[in-house]
Amino acid sequence: MRILSIETSCDDTSMAIVEVTEPKNLGRTPSVLVPHFKVLKNLVSSQTKIHSHWGGVVPNLAKREHLKNLPILWKRIMNKELRIKNKKSMIHNSKFVIPDLLAVTVGPGLEPSLWTGVEFAKKLSAELKIPLVGVNHLEGHLYSFLLPQKTVITNIQYLIPKNKKLPLKLVEELPKLEIGNWKLEFPAVALLVSGGHTILVVMKNLKTWKKIGETRDDAAGEAYDKVAKMMSLPYPGGPLIEKLAKKGNGKAIAFPRPMMREKNYEFSFSGLKTSVLYYLKSLVSHPERSEGSREESSVDSSVRQLSDFRMTAEQLSDVSASFQFAVIDVLTAKTIRAVREFGAKSVFLCGGVAANKTLRKELKKAANAAGAEFFAPDFEYNTDNAAMIAVAAYLQQKSRRKKYPLVADSGLTL
Ligand code: KG4
Ligand code: ZN
Repeated sequence: MRILSIETSCDDTSMAIVEVTEPKNLGRTPSVLVPHFKVLKNLVSSQTKIHSHWGGVVPNLAKREHLKNLPILWKRIMNKELRIKNKKSMIHNSKFVIPDLLAVTVGPGLEPSLWTGVEFAKKLSAELKIPLVGVNHLEGHLYSFLLPQKTVITNIQYLIPKNKKLPLKLVEELPKLEIGNWKLEFPAVALLVSGGHTILVVMKNLKTWKKIGETRDDAAGEAYDKVAKMMSLPYPGGPLIEKLAKKGNGKAIAFPRPMMREKNYEFSFSGLKTSVLYYLKSLVSHPERSEGSREESSVDSSVRQLSDFRMTAEQLSDVSASFQFAVIDVLTAKTIRAVREFGAKSVFLCGGVAANKTLRKELKKAANAAGAEFFAPDFEYNTDNAAMIAVAAYLQQKSRRKKYPLVADSGLTL
């Protein structure tokens, strides 16, 4: 089955084609053979540079860019060997294999952005004469750890010594090897950390899962972005704070770990953000604390915006490292609490913040220590992309969960 997918929920325009090969026992527990998802194309057109200037995503600018980018990506999806028969038609390429299903993100996200994707998908579905399904962006993130597919060669006959000439029949068989038997152990705990959400989910199998907790205020990614803004760093703040944190001391400032010890699966990052703000204000009112190194930050000074108070490189790094240490402590503690309570055998980490290497390392270490295997998607599938929307569309088709109407729904949740 071939799925064409479209993602325009925020500031990335993305289009993908994913080919799915079905395994036999998709729903069985505890060990589940996963379907094989082969990403044929995953095009992402980022608007970061445009929004970075404004310190956050501007909805109408995002909509304008999506409107411009969608037809461009669609042309690229169909390859260059286009033979344009009818200029009004969206289908130009006679060699293009028509997908079986079209999937589009319907929410959550920015309403103007979501609508551009939904309207474009409706037109495309009519042109291609294929069914269109609405996808929850958060389900896309949730399943993104399935990308890219692991290849597991289980059949011993394929383990041929290097120098041995392979029989022709076997050479013909080789491409099929990609369809590996990747087994996942359930139950699993998934931590979804993005710019808009911080959610913990317990999964009974790939089709059945339950949200057990989420943030009461700011999402983890949002906290990264706001703390970065306080330090006059451009949007998005996550990658820059991660970079600065590498040179800093995570124990330099004892920022709070909100709700870490509470026996629930809720999060709160707004208090932590406020603590960082108070700390930064204390630096301004006590300039003697800034007497350390005056060397400019390793972050290119051209990407920093102007502010009245210029932090030293050391201060930027220490605040970043101490803030990040607090965020990772909380995320790890809550996830491991869930692993223990639900007897999870796997931990899945997904969403934009999952691109953070320190978080991946610490959570993997903690999950393994608690007896669970750790999975995270390849970096290109952490932040918003359409390939994960195709995966979610496929698994939605296979489940009895409610279908989403083809209407932009900015407040959709898991
Ligand atoms: O999933 P995503 O692309 O969009 C949403 O659905 O929100 O996540 C974007 C968020 C932003 O807040 C960004 O700062 C954060 O992910 N992020 C990171 C890193 N890369 C992106 N946060 C921490 N460390 C990173 N390396
Ligand atoms: Zn996202």
